[in-house]
Amino acid sequence: MGPYPILDALLEKRISLACLPTPVEKLPHLSDELGVALFVKRDDLTESVASGNKIRKLEYLLYDAKEKGCDMLITCGGVQSNHCRATAAVAVRMGMGCHLILRGDAPKVSGGNLLIDRILGATVSFYTREDFKRLHEIELETVAAFEKKGRRPYLIPMGGSNATGSLGYIRMMEELKTEEISFDTIYCALGSGGTYAGILLGLAWAGLRAEARGIAVCDDAAYFKNEVARIFDEFKQQYNLTFPDGRFEVNADDRFVGEGYALNTPDELQELIRIARLEGLILDPVYTLKTFLGMMQQIREGAIPPGSTVLFVHTGGHYGIFPKGEEFRPLIEAEAKG
Ligand SMILES: Cc1ncc(COP(=O)(O)O)c(C=O)c1O
Repeated sequence: MGPYPILDALLEKRISLACLPTPVEKLPHLSDELGVALFVKRDDLTESVASGNKIRKLEYLLYDAKEKGCDMLITCGGVQSNHCRATAAVAVRMGMGCHLILRGDAPKVSGGNLLIDRILGATVSFYTREDFKRLHEIELETVAAFEKKGRRPYLIPMGGSNATGSLGYIRMMEELKTEEISFDTIYCALGSGGTYAGILLGLAWAGLRAEARGIAVCDDAAYFKNEVARIFDEFKQQYNLTFPDGRFEVNADDRFVGEGYALNTPDELQELIRIARLEGLILDPVYTLKTFLGMMQQIREGAIPPGSTVLFVHTGGHYGIFPKGEEFRPLIEAEAKG
């Protein structure tokens, strides 16, 4: 990366698990519609079972886990967590065990990400939303229970969002530096904040001029400002890495959470269908759809000057479509009748 030897050394501390670099593709129809040059960074193509943004973070987390001599991974998320599914997949590849702490009820039939978790042999335990308020205790109890059985667990936080995981998105800047296009704006989802933190820090370290804009899919802008600051604080504590000029600005828009995390309106899903048919690009309902809708709205509002080069990071999540078959059904049936 150049003038930052600490970062160069840190970026080497990874296990190669993802199919990188991912391609950057232009969306011609939506570019015309929106009056900008719109491109997608296809991080939905990082792998198959472990696809999406989490595998970039896991490359660094797994290196750390192996270095610490751990033999299993423990992490947490919603029942349909993409992060949990990707963690279960890389655990198998690395010959490690995996236990998932899941928020929500155990469904009668596993579908989507949970089905993949089960197929991959991860063990799971379910907790209510109320229980999740004491997540930290649950994590520590789970670690202790496995240690008692003689295992050496490595605990990965929600979404893999800590300083170590965020290195994965700093490294993505090496890929962007080799692109012929220089981007004015980069959009990504804000779920637990690690992807955005990595992009923001990565842009500064790489000397790229793009502005990073995050669209919240849960919580509010203030929450994400805190989370990103917390991750930067960890960079300082753990690696003695500070933001280049000491100042950073988190651009977080929380107007597109809609009905709530992982909930969709028929209008949102109709847009997913429209974009799929226009560009052959399928977004996931929980993260990338809401982020894409937020990006289009910001462009229409004039936040992005006409003719700008805009990069949307498709962070994956396709397995999250399958548990929503019933929500798509009326939209598709109405069309068949009409
Ligand atoms: C598909 C997908 N996109 C985006 C995100 C958001 O990334 P982050 O948690 O790093 O904010 C997540 C996870 O939360 C995800 O699963």
